[in-house]
Amino acid sequence: MLIQHNISLKSHNTFGIDVKAKHFISVTTLDQLIEVLKLKDYPNKLILGGGSNMLLTKDIQALVIHINLKGVSLIKANDKNVIVKANAGENWHEFVLWCIENNYGGLENMSLIPGNVGTSPIQNIGAYGVELKDHFESCEALNLETLKIEVFKNKDCNFGYRHSVFKNELKGKYIITSVSFKLSKTKHQLHTNYGAIAAQLETMAISEPTIKDVSQAVITIRQSKLPDPKEIGNSGSFFKNPVISIEAFEKLKLNFPEAPSYLVSQKEVKVPAGWLIETAGFKGKTFGNYGVHKKQALVLVNYGGAKGEDILALSKLIQKTIYRIFNIEIEAEVNIL
Ligand code: EPU
Repeated sequence: MLIQHNISLKSHNTFGIDVKAKHFISVTTLDQLIEVLKLKDYPNKLILGGGSNMLLTKDIQALVIHINLKGVSLIKANDKNVIVKANAGENWHEFVLWCIENNYGGLENMSLIPGNVGTSPIQNIGAYGVELKDHFESCEALNLETLKIEVFKNKDCNFGYRHSVFKNELKGKYIITSVSFKLSKTKHQLHTNYGAIAAQLETMAISEPTIKDVSQAVITIRQSKLPDPKEIGNSGSFFKNPVISIEAFEKLKLNFPEAPSYLVSQKEVKVPAGWLIETAGFKGKTFGNYGVHKKQALVLVNYGGAKGEDILALSKLIQKTIYRIFNIEIEAEVNIL
């Protein structure tokens, strides 16, 4: 087994932060993963997937285990549906494109989300009206205590908005090794009522879209407002959209009548954090080599060479300012390490 030492993690996190891992290994099989986890010489271990939802603020003293398990397979099929399984190290977007090429519907609205399949359930990724949980059949996860694989069905994961058991009560206890999805083969249920998608399809002059058209519309929208991590380091939405009570929202509207919101339940609304950050004057602000993206205020960016701790300090300044102006707390969506 090849354990490397003092390896830069720059190419392993989409923020492009240049910190070092004291020890690093990339595992390509389950047996290798189990073997590495048994190593007594490295008591502290950090599991790394696509590195798309993390902000690294310091060198990592632990053994970083990069989950590089590849492979996609068709598990079951009937006339209407398929169950497809992808191993954890598959790139999310490439997997979505593979599904679309095979005419398996369901994941198209989540095209171009950065990261890997294995980390997608942890925060129940979602975009344009569809969440992972809508098509998640099950996942296999390695129990770090017993080193045995366990299967989690959809209901076992307690999925919510950017939330699952793997992020909360089971945090640090399992490594997801594969995820299975239930997708449609025919009569795809398209979700095109999310404003931007409908408008984009119209621009593309498409009235009867296929799953490929929806994917293309989403790709075009994302490329127009979200920075490509290959060009500008970022981790997608840095913050979650806060959920507040309807009473609190009514109060907010007294001072900010134009405040947007989405109804979450009969008692609560979600307020776009991007709007709060833009209204607080941060959109497009740069501080040397880092800042707030100019087209989407929810995204913090590294223009090259920024330090994780500087971006963390900026995120705290934004949180404090939002609280002062709107009396609303916004929570980071990315993991800070
Ligand atoms: N807005 C602003 N200014 C901004 C950004 C947004 O005023 O700079 C307001 C506008 O009112 C806009 C509304 O926010 O209409 C919603 O914006 P958008 O549709 O771009 O969605 P979002 O709430 O900013 C969420 C997800 C994104 C996902 C989009 C589309 C979260 C934290 N983010 O963003 O997910 O792509 O919806 O579904 O829920 C990610 O998680 O990394 C991510 C990019």
